[in-house]
Amino acid sequence: MVYICKQRNNQTIIHMTQGNVRPADMERITTPALAKKFIDEQIKELRAQIGDKKVLLALSGGVDSSVVAALLIKAVGKQLVSVHVNHGLLRKGEPEQVVKVFRDELNANLVYVDATDRFLGKLAGVADPEQKRKIIGAEFIRVFEEEARKQEGISFLAQGTIYPDIVESGPVKSHHNVGGLPEDLQFELVEPIKLLFKDEVRVVGKELGLPDNMVFRQPFPGPGLGVRCTGAITRDRLEALRESDAILREEFAKNGLEGKVWQYFTIVPDYKSTGVKDNKRSWDWPVIIRAVNTRDAMTATIEEIPYKLLHHITQRIITEVPGVNRVLYDLTPKPTGTIEWE
Ligand code: XMP
Repeated sequence: MVYICKQRNNQTIIHMTQGNVRPADMERITTPALAKKFIDEQIKELRAQIGDKKVLLALSGGVDSSVVAALLIKAVGKQLVSVHVNHGLLRKGEPEQVVKVFRDELNANLVYVDATDRFLGKLAGVADPEQKRKIIGAEFIRVFEEEARKQEGISFLAQGTIYPDIVESGPVKSHHNVGGLPEDLQFELVEPIKLLFKDEVRVVGKELGLPDNMVFRQPFPGPGLGVRCTGAITRDRLEALRESDAILREEFAKNGLEGKVWQYFTIVPDYKSTGVKDNKRSWDWPVIIRAVNTRDAMTATIEEIPYKLLHHITQRIITEVPGVNRVLYDLTPKPTGTIEWE
């Protein structure tokens, strides 16, 4: 058996090559009817594969893992144990939405772990971007592993692998480990959407009744806000980042830019400048707005946000977000800038 592994969302995804080729005659899922057909088939297959055993899933709240969770809940209900690790670097409202949708509405067997203090403790004083990514990735595996060990009788690990992950996978390598988990925590894989393209995953997600802001979510890096709170992360700057990002998303949604612009977010760099607030000198951070369009994230162009809206967003951020005295709009395309700042 050959396995492929690749880095995605800061985790190593490993899957078997057997059965990993999308049949040439597989119809593209573009309509609710086709999505329903796929869901019905998958439910049968998942029940046959899983039987009365238990499945574990790391549920990030992103579209892929959310669709896998919703499919498995339909197929095997409480035999699915979903683990949502809040690393403290999620956007405003995200962990709450995962709990609301999966625990409250879909009645899922959801383990919610607030590991904010652990992650921020490990990241304290660490300024190097690669080091930050490594710490977040390693700590994620550690927290997930601890939760996996608390569960009894797990036989399967579900993953939100999608077809581009397989197609774009790097060198083939013989491997039996899963997602960086230790050898004694190896489970058989369940990958129900591994032959689907992203647009198909969204059609299936909608048919499964997941909310639009989950199904059509813009890309969000695995290390989350950690790469946008540049340099060594502090709680107050992270809070300024979370609040300014929430304002930007709210205004984009209100003004018809949600779903039109590929990726948009704020950055709060580890740098202060002089300003004036309430007739006093201030020494505060700038918020940088980034809004880009791209096909494949290899190159990117800048969204031409209407000036009036930029002014309104600026006004809201400088008045509503503590610790901020300036707002800048990053006009740099990729290249020469990358999309993220670190
Ligand atoms: P860059 O900054 O390289 O980003 O132009 C390209 C796309 O990749 C996303 N990105 C990441 N996604 N883990 C992820 O899962 C990461 O460490 C990471 N870094 C960048 C970025 O948001 C953009 O969509």
